[in-house]
Amino acid sequence: MTKILVTGATGNIGRLTLDRLLNRAPANDLVGLAREPAKAADLAAKGIEIRQGDYFDDEGLVRAFKGIDKVMMVSATAFTDRNTQHENVINAAWQAGVQHIVYMPIIHKAGSAFRLPQVTEEDRFVEDRLKSSGLIYTLVRHPPFLETIETYAGGHPLETGVRAPAGSGKAAYASREDLAEAHAVVLSEDGHAYGDYALYGGPAVSFADIARILTEISGKPVPFRAVSEQDYVAQLVSLGLPEPAAGFMLKWVEGVNAGEWDGETGDLEKLLGRKPKTPTEFLRASHAARQLETESLRRG
Ligand SMILES: NC(=O)c1ccc[n+]([C@@H]2O[C@H](COP(=O)([O-])OP(=O)(O)OC[C@H]3O[C@@H](n4cnc5c(N)ncnc54)[C@H](OP(=O)(O)O)[C@@H]3O)[C@@H](O)[C@H]2O)c1
Repeated sequence: MTKILVTGATGNIGRLTLDRLLNRAPANDLVGLAREPAKAADLAAKGIEIRQGDYFDDEGLVRAFKGIDKVMMVSATAFTDRNTQHENVINAAWQAGVQHIVYMPIIHKAGSAFRLPQVTEEDRFVEDRLKSSGLIYTLVRHPPFLETIETYAGGHPLETGVRAPAGSGKAAYASREDLAEAHAVVLSEDGHAYGDYALYGGPAVSFADIARILTEISGKPVPFRAVSEQDYVAQLVSLGLPEPAAGFMLKWVEGVNAGEWDGETGDLEKLLGRKPKTPTEFLRASHAARQLETESLRRG
């Protein structure tokens, strides 16, 4: 019996990873870590034990990790002293006798000069700590999430056109669901010790490609308009994003335009045993869901 703990159980990726693990391991071998366990009541109802823990509370983490064999460390939120939090998790895992940590850095292209603030260096820090920790580790590197593709494209690209800073770089976005399923495979199977996977989705698309896909899906012309960096941030702020978050999105877009996430390894497809969700499939489903919503609002 291997006891697997997933942190961030109340968030998107952690919750989805536990959900996909339920298809591959008995519920009583699974544990979720949450700052507020009540927020994970749905997972507890499925038989998953929820333990309380905060990345900033090192002693609490050691208690939460007792009896655990493998930990999936969901990366800490940017701009919240990620190094301290990640280091606490790694140290607590070691102290509690955990054998194996799985971590999800953002893909950094070899030789690339691009640095995502609060992410690239902090992920490197985790990798260094894991390598010197004595723990078994596996790296499941993430591209940008498909779920964010419309925000990168300016917010409501179907209505306003794709509006992003000029560039023709492409990114191989992947959906959170596919990434979580890949995590579940790595956590529940043998043979992934010291594995280093780059979970590109694909096919990689540029902002002009997104406009073309939206045009095909909607049957109406969706143009790509290059906007200045200032206007890009302003349009995201006008949609309700706090200015620092909009500025952070701009950095991701710079990475897309620099080709930082344009790659292909086949790792995600191999782990899933099927093709990952494509941008066209994602955008088509998202368009259909919005049409349904509009229709039901119209009908009252
Ligand atoms: N690949 C990408 O495109 C991309 C984009 C953005 C972010 N990311 C990274 O991916 C991570 C997961 O994404 P997501 O969508 O699942 O994020 P999310 O929904 O915001 O989930 C974050 C999880 O981390 C937990 N958490 C935050 N601070 C914590 C702390 N001090 N101690 C313990 N747990 C803490 C949160 O708990 P609460 O419910 O208590 O807040 C939540 O469960 C993010 O945190 C970020 O590092 C990736």
